[in-house]
Amino acid sequence: MVLVSNKELLEKANQEGYAVGAFNMNNMEIMQAIVEGAVEEDAPVIVAATKGAIKYAGIDYIAKLVHTAASKVDIPMSLHLDHGPDFETVMKCIRAGFTSVMIDGSFLPFEENVALTKKVVEVAHTVGVPVEAELGRLVGVEDEISVTEREAFFTDPKEAQKFVEETNCDFLAVSIGNAHGIYKGEPKLDFDRLKEIDEVVHIPLVLHGASGIPDDDIRRATRLGINKINIDTELRLAFRDAVREVVCKSDVYDPRKILGPARDAMKEVVKTKIRLFGSSKKA
Ligand code: G3H
Ligand code: ZN
Repeated sequence: MVLVSNKELLEKANQEGYAVGAFNMNNMEIMQAIVEGAVEEDAPVIVAATKGAIKYAGIDYIAKLVHTAASKVDIPMSLHLDHGPDFETVMKCIRAGFTSVMIDGSFLPFEENVALTKKVVEVAHTVGVPVEAELGRLVGVEDEISVTEREAFFTDPKEAQKFVEETNCDFLAVSIGNAHGIYKGEPKLDFDRLKEIDEVVHIPLVLHGASGIPDDDIRRATRLGINKINIDTELRLAFRDAVREVVCKSDVYDPRKILGPARDAMKEVVKTKIRLFGSSKKA
């Protein structure tokens, strides 16, 4: 299949009440783990790349790898720019063949976030690319973005409504107690706030920082309007643990024998999350 956009993936998810997993890739093995996992679950999937991933692997390598993978499988999948930091990066990704983008203006004051998001939406929509935006600010570290507890704040439902009306963005990432990276203590999601946002914002909502959130909370969030769930840290941990297991317990020096088990371990994470999100058999 050719790559589709997040619009198709998330509108179906919104109508049918499940969430599509968005998994971060940085190299071929991670991408294969994501795609193979989704194929085995017969699920739609979003392959996400940050600016950091693009810097590491090269934009053309990422685009070609994901387009090639899509052409060989029968599930709907998209290539999504995760946490696009500025207008220029978004445009580069669209030109390179990304089928969905995020502009993350959450570090800006409200009006500036609106202006940046609106500008991206206007251009992206002319070429059929949907846009995810973010309002509120998550604590933690995601690639090149690092936010302290003092800088973080939750999404205000009224502001969210105004933001979506003014920007015409397609999906909204919310801050409701979720955090990037490894949680310090038990995550506490503000479900009342999520419910209030969902009542006034009629587009699919996105949950970032989903690694480490208990399964029941993920299910509850999905029932309250979350249709896209981002996972990165749990893939990284699975990768690290599998590589450590091989490297520390043997003299293996063939990269395939080191990265192969890591790919298998990440695939298991992808499959488990897809089942949890309710998107198995939704391809
Ligand atoms: O944008 C990507 C994510 O929000 C992933 O967060 O690393 O905490 O799973 P995570
Ligand atoms: Zn994120």
